Amino acid sequence: MTYAAFRSIGAYVPEKILTNEDLSKMVDTSDEWIVQRTGIKERRIAAKDERTSDMGVEAAKLAIERSGLKLEEIDMVICATISPDYFNMPSTATIISTKLGLGNITAFDISAACTGFVYIISIAKAFIESGMKKNVLIIGAEKLSAITDYTDRGTCILFGDGAGAAIISATDNKDEAIIDVHTGSDGKYADLLMTPNGGTGSPHDSIGQEAGACFMQMKGNETFKVAVRTLTKDVKEILAENNISSDEVKHFVPHQANYRIIKAVGDALKMRDDQVVLTVEKFGNTSGASIPMAINDIYESGKLKAGELMLLDAFGGGLTWGSALIPFSPVK
Ligand code: UT7
Repeated sequence: MTYAAFRSIGAYVPEKILTNEDLSKMVDTSDEWIVQRTGIKERRIAAKDERTSDMGVEAAKLAIERSGLKLEEIDMVICATISPDYFNMPSTATIISTKLGLGNITAFDISAACTGFVYIISIAKAFIESGMKKNVLIIGAEKLSAITDYTDRGTCILFGDGAGAAIISATDNKDEAIIDVHTGSDGKYADLLMTPNGGTGSPHDSIGQEAGACFMQMKGNETFKVAVRTLTKDVKEILAENNISSDEVKHFVPHQANYRIIKAVGDALKMRDDQVVLTVEKFGNTSGASIPMAINDIYESGKLKAGELMLLDAFGGGLTWGSALIPFSPVK
């Protein structure tokens, strides 16, 4: 039997910092409100000429180097993003693949918003377990500043830019294997979190290019409530189905949307503070990039060791959600 192992992690964080203080000069808000309601103090903003693919490439270089693989051993690239270099095509994954010099391998993007990284773990796992691919580079990369309306205080305080990447590889050692991945969706909540304009539902020719074609809109409070309810149910189920107690989880790595959502789900699972990975304070919500950026954070600070069990959870536009139980399995 072939299994899929989570071998390595990398991330890229843009230099420019946008603080709550900066935002309070742009919209009617305050550092106190943002910290109290979200836990966010600052977020990173990519340079004007820095594209999603550029950030994805930097994160991927680290993940590849840390995996010990040669470039020619990688046989597929998947990128999760809602802020691609180009609308519709070409995919950001093909651009990243070529910038890295990976050759003519399979490369594609997926759209699952903030759940994107969990979705691409499940896709990589399926390709590997079926024997179709051996070493898959997965990337969550976002330049959300390009699709954020900086006159809307309900969204602009939340989002930031960045990228994270990982290598998922084939193994015959079950102890190294990704244990389980859950993915789900419910389109009846589509209007809670969306970029309403620019697609076939509201094409560019009818709205005009200047009309903020691709800005995100969110019904924050409703999204918040569905997020807590759905995530709590999903993470409880994935633990129960795999006979794993929350105590056995070394690192709970939730999507970094809002500290209050993370706290509510963590409390429902009886997670101790030392189990919960938090980067929301310094990076805000980076959608599909938030989980790999958080994993990289504990890796680079020396907290993530071989064999330790991670529990991931995510929730986002679609609506989509997902969770995963993954031992960190670098090549020894
Ligand atoms: O990552 C994908 C999934 N995304 C999420 O899970 C995000 C979920 N939602 C949230 O994180 C929160 O709902 C927000 C942080 C967006 C908003 O927090 P909230 O506690 O749900 O606030 P609210 O929307 O209920 O608004 C409360 C008040 C309102 O004023 P009134 O009507 O009570 O007078 C808002 O107009 O806060 C006001 N408000 C603000 N005030 C200062 C909304 N945004 C701001 C702001 N600064 N930035």
